[in-house]
Amino acid sequence: MKIIRAKDYNHMSRQAANIISAQVILKPDCVLGLATGSSPIGTYEQLIKWYEKGDLDFSQVRTVNLDEYVGLDSSHEQSYAYFMRSHFFDRVNIDPSNTNIPCGIAPDEAAECQRYDSVISGLGKLDLQLLGIGPNGHIGFNEPDTCFTKGTHKVALTETTIQANKRFFQREEDVPRFAYTMGICDIMNARRVVLVASGVEKADAVKAAFFGPITPLVSGSILQLHPDFTLVADEAALSKV
Ligand code: F6R
Repeated sequence: MKIIRAKDYNHMSRQAANIISAQVILKPDCVLGLATGSSPIGTYEQLIKWYEKGDLDFSQVRTVNLDEYVGLDSSHEQSYAYFMRSHFFDRVNIDPSNTNIPCGIAPDEAAECQRYDSVISGLGKLDLQLLGIGPNGHIGFNEPDTCFTKGTHKVALTETTIQANKRFFQREEDVPRFAYTMGICDIMNARRVVLVASGVEKADAVKAAFFGPITPLVSGSILQLHPDFTLVADEAALSKV
C-alpha cells in the first residue's frame, strides 16, 4: 500500500486526478472503474479542467461504475447514472456507449447482476479502479458482512450508509434501501486501485480499513492485499493513524 498524504480535499483531488490522467495518457483506451459520492467529485473536476485545456482525451476510454441504487431510473437526479453524467461524462468527450453502470430498474435483479458481471469480464482487466470509502469502511456498496462477496450482487444498505447518504435526498425515507454493487473480486482484479478519502468523518474508516485486521466486516480492508493500491487521503482523514 502506498499512501499519498494530501493537505486538504483539493490537494487530494489533484493528486488522484494526476494518477488517472497519467493512466489515460499512457493508455488512451484504458478501462477505468469509477465511483460516485462526494469524495471523487473534486477529482472529476480536475480531470474536466485538464480535458478543457486540451491535455486529456477520453474518446477511447471505457468505464465501469461500482454501483447503482435499486429502484432508481437513470434519469432520477439521485441515481448514480445521473451523477456520473452531470459530474463527468457530459463534460468530457467520452463516448456514452463506452460507459457502464448497473441498471437500477432492471426487472430481473439476478439477471442484472449476471449482465453486469459479463460487462466487467468483457472489458478485460480494469486498468485503474477509483474508490471512495464509506464511514463503515465499505468500498462500492460492499457492506459489513460475514464473507467477501466476489461478483456483482444486490445488497441491503446498512443504517450507517443510509444515514450517510440521506444528505442527497429530500427525506430520509426517499433513500433507497438496496443497491447493486460490484463485488470484491471485481475490485481486486483491477491492475491498480486508487482510493480517495477526505475529512475527519473518514478517519475511523481509514484507520480500521488500512491499519486494522483484514475482515469482511470492513470491506475496504481487503485492499491491504492488493499489489498496487494507493490511498490518497488528506490530513483529516489520516488524523487517527
Ligand atoms: C460510491 C461508492 C461508495 C462511496 C462511499 C463514500 O460509488 O461506491 O463506496 O465511495 O460511500 O461516499 P462519499 O464519497 O459520498 O463519502
